[in-house]
Amino acid sequence: MVKSKVAGSEYLILSDEDQSSLNVHATALKYFYGGRIVTATSHVDTIELLNLHGRPELLFVDYNILIKEGGKLHSFVESSGLHMPMIVAQEQNTDPLVLEQFPVSSVLQKPVSVEALTNLVKQITNAPVSTPSHVPISIQTLLQFTNGEFDFYLKLSGRNFIKIINKGDIFTNQDAEKLLAKGIKEVHVKASDSHDLLKICEDRLLMRVKEAGNLPVEEGVLIVIGAIEQVESISKALGWTNEVALSAQKTVSSAIEILIQNSQMTQTLKKRFLNPSSPYAMHIGLQTYLTCGFCKLLGWTEESTQTKLVMASLLHDVSLDESYYDDIRTWNKKASNSKIKAAEVVQYRNHPLEASKFASTLKVLPPDVEKIILQHHETPDGKGFPRGLASNQISSLTSLFIMIEDLIGFIGEGRHIESSISDYLTWGETKYSSGYFKKIFDVMKEKISSGV
Ligand SMILES: [Fe+2]
Ligand SMILES: [Fe+2]
Repeated sequence: MVKSKVAGSEYLILSDEDQSSLNVHATALKYFYGGRIVTATSHVDTIELLNLHGRPELLFVDYNILIKEGGKLHSFVESSGLHMPMIVAQEQNTDPLVLEQFPVSSVLQKPVSVEALTNLVKQITNAPVSTPSHVPISIQTLLQFTNGEFDFYLKLSGRNFIKIINKGDIFTNQDAEKLLAKGIKEVHVKASDSHDLLKICEDRLLMRVKEAGNLPVEEGVLIVIGAIEQVESISKALGWTNEVALSAQKTVSSAIEILIQNSQMTQTLKKRFLNPSSPYAMHIGLQTYLTCGFCKLLGWTEESTQTKLVMASLLHDVSLDESYYDDIRTWNKKASNSKIKAAEVVQYRNHPLEASKFASTLKVLPPDVEKIILQHHETPDGKGFPRGLASNQISSLTSLFIMIEDLIGFIGEGRHIESSISDYLTWGETKYSSGYFKKIFDVMKEKISSGV
């Protein structure tokens, strides 16, 4: 049951996956909004906050959060009866039908201007307007957006503030760590400086969004691969040379060149690789790199074969909400158990089907890619999902794809790459006992142990 609003408990929620935008917007609103400001970075957090605090005066939400997991937030708003006013931050590809389902008061185009948001919040909310002498800014925002431009203060009590950073002083990571170690998560800037500070934050945020948006997809994917620490150690452990890395780069480029002939695909990939350090981007990056490397190792040097595997790597989880990546092992276990019928498990169980449906709409896709995507969670013992196929029903390309996913699982859980690879090889001995799995594994084992 959702709590009803308590008098005097005015609050609003800011909900955005991008922590930087969230910080800047929260700082702007703290300048005048007298109620509480709470923030969320996912649809799950947003629902939790609504459950915990009841109806807010306003929900400012990023469009990407509204559409997560088939509109879970929508179902919650409907069933809870919490019809609070909403401001939605939207991109070009917003579906107006989605917005129609919500009590949307206003829509702001991304990147959202601080001034436009401030004006709307003032119109919609009733909390008393506050006129603080100092405005809080999180340590994280300070580090990210401004340095040396303002004096910053520490709040002692009530209206007492003490200056801890002088204008002109550079604030370093070490300074931030020291404050955080003392439990200090925010400092304050004089209210008279806050407009200038927000302007700087907003300009830098805008610049960052533009840079990320302008990056060609190919570069985005290559940056992700380059950012994965494990790539270098895996290459070393497997005895791969620079040549493998170069060939992977070439294959990724040609696969993406084909995929981006479809504009929807371009948008999807850009969005998925916007945050290079997200578990999703890292997983896809690693799968992409390793499929290229293992193709070479196995002597599958035909360019089209590698291209197919790279495309499947980039697309296989495209229909999946990224939050599943927080605990993908558990989801895989649950999905393999066909007795579990909970909606989110069924949704996860069907993601290969959904992704292959999406792939089938792309005219540019070579044959076999759809099949790899559809079968990427099948297993040699017939206990995979969604279909529980037997190993002799799984193609050679798909078998390699699945084996690389398994290897990545071992690498993710082990302490050292070398021991993870050797554990994987021991495990594979019994696991890959039939079909193409066995044939590929025999070659893989031989090549890895000979250090080729
Ligand atoms: Fe998957
Ligand atoms: Fe995967």
